[in-house]
This record gives sequence, structure tokens and C-alpha cells, in this order.
Amino acid sequence: MASSIPVFQTRDEMPQRYRETLEQMMKSQAYRELAAARMFGHGLQFVDSSKWLKFLVWHIGEETEHYLAVARMYEKFTGESVDPWVAERLAQKPIPFAQSWFELAMAQFLYDRGGFWQLQEYERCSYPPYREVIGKIIDEERGHQGLGERIVVEQCQTGRYDDCKQPLFEHWLKLGLLSFGRPQNEGNRYAIEVGLKKRDSGAVMQDFITDLKPAVRQCGLAFPPPARLGLEVPDSLDWEI
Ligand SMILES: [Fe+2]
Ligand SMILES: [Fe+2]
Repeated sequence: MASSIPVFQTRDEMPQRYRETLEQMMKSQAYRELAAARMFGHGLQFVDSSKWLKFLVWHIGEETEHYLAVARMYEKFTGESVDPWVAERLAQKPIPFAQSWFELAMAQFLYDRGGFWQLQEYERCSYPPYREVIGKIIDEERGHQGLGERIVVEQCQTGRYDDCKQPLFEHWLKLGLLSFGRPQNEGNRYAIEVGLKKRDSGAVMQDFITDLKPAVRQCGLAFPPPARLGLEVPDSLDWEI
């Protein structure tokens, strides 16, 4: 971290904008972690073997732990619970639930991967407690998305999902990309300037897309034309597989 970036130990010494940006980061992450726990919890109905039951319960448990860890940090920081904010946000903006085991794997592959790349932007966060909390979460997210990818690749290669794989891929690709927020905006620039995050969302999107390419190829999928995603993404993104 550049030495010119100030490190604030307490909430009181932070400029208002810094404090608000940091609180927004915590709230958004809390929302995403609990949304993931709910989505994978909903997915229990698609499980038909003990092996996958154990795996899914483990995954739901980890997402719940992530939520609780962020919620504890938020409460320690603000003196208030994040639960009401997250509950309201989930009511207003629910994450769509997967409708099949295949779709659940797609969600794990893309939604979890979005979170994984986004959190890496905070791993040198200028607020030290955030760094500690997310270090462990990043390691666990690495496992989630890796497993989701393996399942999706295996299932795509059976040929059984040829009809539905591309639309489901595009749907969850969009939800994964939404983790990064809008590229090149004022809020982004401020967060980078004060060391709360590393880079602009556009740069993170590129890493995410590049990381997906080998699996996209193995699955026989294709990236949609960016306009079809209905998202603001930089024109310079390299989608070539
Ligand atoms: Fe998580
Ligand atoms: Fe996860």
C-alpha cells in the first residue's frame, strides 16, 4: 500500500465519506453472503445423494459463517446490527433461486466466482479489520467456485444440457458481473484513492472473464455479445475465448 494512504484505526477519526464507503462495502458483502446461503439452502431440494447432501450443507454453513463474520465486523464498527438492512435489501432485491441441480452448479461457478474476485480487491484494504475478516473468506470462496466449475464442466460434457446451458450461463454470468459494481464511476475512484479497494471494477471484470475462459471452452459455451447482458461494462473487455 502506498505510504500516502492514511490508515484509520477508529470510526471517529475517519472522514465521513471514507466511513460511508466502508460501511457500504460491509453491507453489500453481508447481503451477498446471506443471499448465497439462502440460494444454496433452497437448492437442498435438488440433492439426491448423501455425498451431495453433505457437500451442500457444508457450503450453506460456510456462506452463513461468512455472513456472520461480516455482520460481527459491522456491529463492532457501527454499534448496530446489519440484519435489518440486509433483510430489507433481500426482500427488495432477492437473488433468483436455481431451479435445478445443474443451475445450482452454474450459480456456484459464476455467482461465487464473482464474489471471489470482488473480495480480492479488498485484501489490502486500508481498514485493517476488513483485511482480517476477508482473508479466510477468500480461501473458502476459492473452493466453492472451483467445485462449481468442475460440476458444470462434467455435466455439460454429458450433452444432456445442450438446450439450456447457454441461457443459464448468460443469466448467472450477469449476476456474477454485478458483484463488481459500475466501472469508472466516482465512488470507485474514491475507494481506490483512499486504499479501500485496489482497482477499478472494469479491471476486475476482465480478470473474472479471463479466469472463466478455459471452463467456457470445455463446456462448449460462448460469451454473449456484451449488449445482451444489459450491464455497463468497459468496451475494452477481451471476451475472446
Ligand atoms: Fe461466501
Ligand atoms: Fe461462496
